[in-house]
Amino acid sequence: MKASSITKYKPFQPINLKDRQWPNRQLTKPPIWCSVDLRDGNQALPVPMNIDQKVELFKQLVAIGFKEIEVGFPSASDTEFNFLRKLVDDGLIPDDVTIQVLVQAREPLIRRTFESLDGVKKAIVHLYNSTSALQRRITFSNATKDEIKAIAVNGTKLIKSLLNEVPGTKITFQYSPESFSDTEEDYAVEVCEAVMDSWQPTPEHKMILNLPSTVEWNMPNTYADQIEWFCRTIKDRDSVIVCLHTHNDRGTGTAATELGLLAGAERVEGTLFGNGERTGNLDLTTVALNMNSHGIQTGLDFSNIDEIRSVYEKNTGMTVHKRHPYAGELVFTAFSGSHQDAIKKGMDLRSDVDTRWAVPYLTIDPIDLGRSYEAIIRINSQSGKGGVAYILKREFEYDLPKKMHPEVGMYINGLADQYGRELSFQEIQTEFQKEFVNRRDIINLKKYHIKKMTEEEVHSVVTLSYKGDEMELEGKGNGPINSVVYAMKQQGWKDFNLEQYRSHSIGNSSASISVSYIQISLKSDPSIRYWGCGEHTSIRRSGVNALISAYNRAQILKGK
Ligand code: KIV
Ligand code: ZN
Repeated sequence: MKASSITKYKPFQPINLKDRQWPNRQLTKPPIWCSVDLRDGNQALPVPMNIDQKVELFKQLVAIGFKEIEVGFPSASDTEFNFLRKLVDDGLIPDDVTIQVLVQAREPLIRRTFESLDGVKKAIVHLYNSTSALQRRITFSNATKDEIKAIAVNGTKLIKSLLNEVPGTKITFQYSPESFSDTEEDYAVEVCEAVMDSWQPTPEHKMILNLPSTVEWNMPNTYADQIEWFCRTIKDRDSVIVCLHTHNDRGTGTAATELGLLAGAERVEGTLFGNGERTGNLDLTTVALNMNSHGIQTGLDFSNIDEIRSVYEKNTGMTVHKRHPYAGELVFTAFSGSHQDAIKKGMDLRSDVDTRWAVPYLTIDPIDLGRSYEAIIRINSQSGKGGVAYILKREFEYDLPKKMHPEVGMYINGLADQYGRELSFQEIQTEFQKEFVNRRDIINLKKYHIKKMTEEEVHSVVTLSYKGDEMELEGKGNGPINSVVYAMKQQGWKDFNLEQYRSHSIGNSSASISVSYIQISLKSDPSIRYWGCGEHTSIRRSGVNALISAYNRAQILKGK
């Protein structure tokens, strides 16, 4: 920022809370969750949701497990009003779900809100007015502190007086000093206590005090200090539920909420994936899954997060970023080689599902979110040997010997580098097969059969062409591969030694094929080694194919 601009901004004054307790606490239980997707989230959309879209999102919120859902601002528009009516008329509100309605502290709006509640079994009526010095000065044209407090108190009194208009509805009252985090702490308490004096909450019938960080002006530790100070100062603490409502202007809405919970709050408002004004509301998905990742059960079920994300995207018109915590397309994917190796090792060691989750680079098991391991390792030029081997194994059942990983990994990554893009799983398989499997480019093996076999010796016959010349070779050895090695050496193709061999089958028993891997070294320089792979329905033939593949690769590559 230019020097001329920086002077516009003033340092933020931390609050003086010397004996703060929150830094030493630990989260052990979930808060009460309240989704404000259909109100705060909706208000922030370029094209607000229509009734059908709201209904679909409401059903999704219920399915996730939200027991408190702010359904809108019924006095603000016909759509908002009619949406609540539809929920009631169509019986869409489960008995264990309390709907919440927001209203400003203005008489006609409060009356209209009560009309919308007809037939609702349980509702939270959420009253708010802004209390910060900035809002008092600018939005309320220099209203005094007492005038602002009176707005809150009068609204509360009116709501109380209207309770008998909805005798069948169990009403909980919520008050928000909007812009709380930018309000003088003692004044916020003064307003909230005046509201409490009017409402008269009790430990049996608590009211909710919602303390918004309407705009995130401060660092999350400051918000936590404000919450702890509020919780310690407010009178009749056991008669109120302290609620957090953070926005994300500094990108720390989640941190502010988590620290605010440590500081003593019991309830949290937010939205799926953090939809909301400007940079968004608190992302409830992230906070809940953060808790899950520390072994805390939350009551919210994100075990099909892709489905939830698509319902959210379809109805709000917003898109979840590819790197969004937990829900983004790429967040369970590793491109970097060292990460892939570590993830693969961690996954391989997870034989017992009861063991604690401990896989490097992954805070949570993607399976628990209904996401597959498929995306965990993808291959581009940054990827390593382990990643390619992992994909060949998981997707195509090639269980490469460990010592073969570097050669295959380097080859495939080199291709990704050359193409300048990621390779699909299918491309990886195709390129692996082209380079390593059943190579025929120097020696083209046409037929292989065993002429005679005793316990000690195999006598093989191979029909092949060598650089176009047809020939038949014979050789003896203690197994099919050694007999072919012998035959090749007799033919003068001597510059190699057999180093490694392994085989396994792919597929189920009725249609399985055998895969063999062979490494040879050059006799002339044993440090130079090449792998080849053979596939065949017969294990013997797959071994011979692997030998010929390794030999052919050596002939082609050794000059390079
Ligand atoms: O952000 C906010 O302060 C609000 C209030 C209406 C609670 O959304
Ligand atoms: Zn808000």
